Amino acid sequence: MYVITLLALVGAAVAAPNALAPRIVEESTIGALDQRIVGGSDANIEDYPFMAVILVSNEDHIQIRFRPFCGGSLITTRAILTAAHCLFNNVLSTNHFRVRLGSSLSRFGGQLYRVENWVKHPGYSWPKLYHDIAILKLASPAIMSNRVALARIAGPNYIVADNTTVTAAGWGVLEFGGEPPEILQHVDIKKVNHDICRENYAELQSSLGELEVPNVTSEMVCAGILDVGGKNTCQGDSGGPLLHQGVIIGITSWAHQCAHPMYHTVFVNVPSYTSWIVDNA
Ligand SMILES: *[C@@H]1O[C@H](CO)[C@@H](O)[C@H](O)[C@H]1NC(C)=O
Ligand SMILES: *[C@@H]1O[C@H](CO)[C@@H](O)[C@H](O)[C@H]1NC(C)=O
Repeated sequence: MYVITLLALVGAAVAAPNALAPRIVEESTIGALDQRIVGGSDANIEDYPFMAVILVSNEDHIQIRFRPFCGGSLITTRAILTAAHCLFNNVLSTNHFRVRLGSSLSRFGGQLYRVENWVKHPGYSWPKLYHDIAILKLASPAIMSNRVALARIAGPNYIVADNTTVTAAGWGVLEFGGEPPEILQHVDIKKVNHDICRENYAELQSSLGELEVPNVTSEMVCAGILDVGGKNTCQGDSGGPLLHQGVIIGITSWAHQCAHPMYHTVFVNVPSYTSWIVDNA
C-alpha cells in the first residue's frame, strides 16, 4: 500500500511528461515518510506504468515464441532503459526482440512493440559487467495511458543514504533457480553501504576468482537486507528499475545467487549515468 500511495502523490506533483527528453529528478526529498519493509508481492502495472517486459525469441517472427527475459523502464516514448547484458552481446538482431508495455502479466496483455535499434554503453564488457547499461529504441512510439507512462530518473546529484528503503520490481524468478511469476512483483529492500557490499564481494572474488565475481565499482549501488537476506531481485529481473520514492536510481545488474544475507544485488548507479542516458535516449 505504501508504494502505491507515494507514487500517486509524487506523480501528481510533477510537470507534464516530456516525450522527447527523459525526466530527471535532481534531488531526493528530505524527511521522507517512515518506511518499513514489506515482502515481495504481486504488483499492478498501474503503479509502475513505465515497466517494460523485454522478450526474446530464436525465431524472428512467430509471436508466441517470444519469452520474457529482462525488465526495462520507459523513459521517453521511444526509449527503454535496461541492462546491457540483456542484449546478449549482439548475438541476436533487433528482430528477435519485443517489448511489452502496459500489462501486469509478462506473457499477455498490453501492447507489444518491435525494437528498432539499441545503444549499449561503450565501456560495457562481459564478464566484468562494468557500465551494464543500454537503451532500446522502440520501432514506434509507445501509446500513453494509465498503464503506460514515462519514468523519472535520478539526476547526477541525487543522493540516497545507506539503509534507505528502495523498491525493486520485475518479472524475475521467485527464488534462485526457480520459476518466473506471470505477474509483476515488487519488493522493498534497503540501500546497502557501498564499502560493505564491495568488501563482501571482494572476499568472494578471492575464493571464486575474477571471472565469477565482478568488482563492485563506484558506478554501482547495492541493495538488499543487510545480514538477513530473503528479499531481493533474482534472475529475469535484470534491466528493471530500483526506485526511491518512484524515481529510478538503479538498474538491476547482478548478484551472487539471490537475496543472500551477505551478497546483495548490485545495480547500475543511475546518477553516474544521467548524462549518458539523456544523450542516448
Ligand atoms: C578488479 O579490480 C582490481 C583492482 O583494481 C583490478 O586489478 C582487476 O583487474 C579488476 N578486475 C576486473 C575483472 O575488472
Ligand atoms: C545502517 O544499518 C547498519 C546495520 O543495522 C548500521 O550498522 C549502520 O550504522 C546504519 N547506517 C546508517 C547510515 O544509518
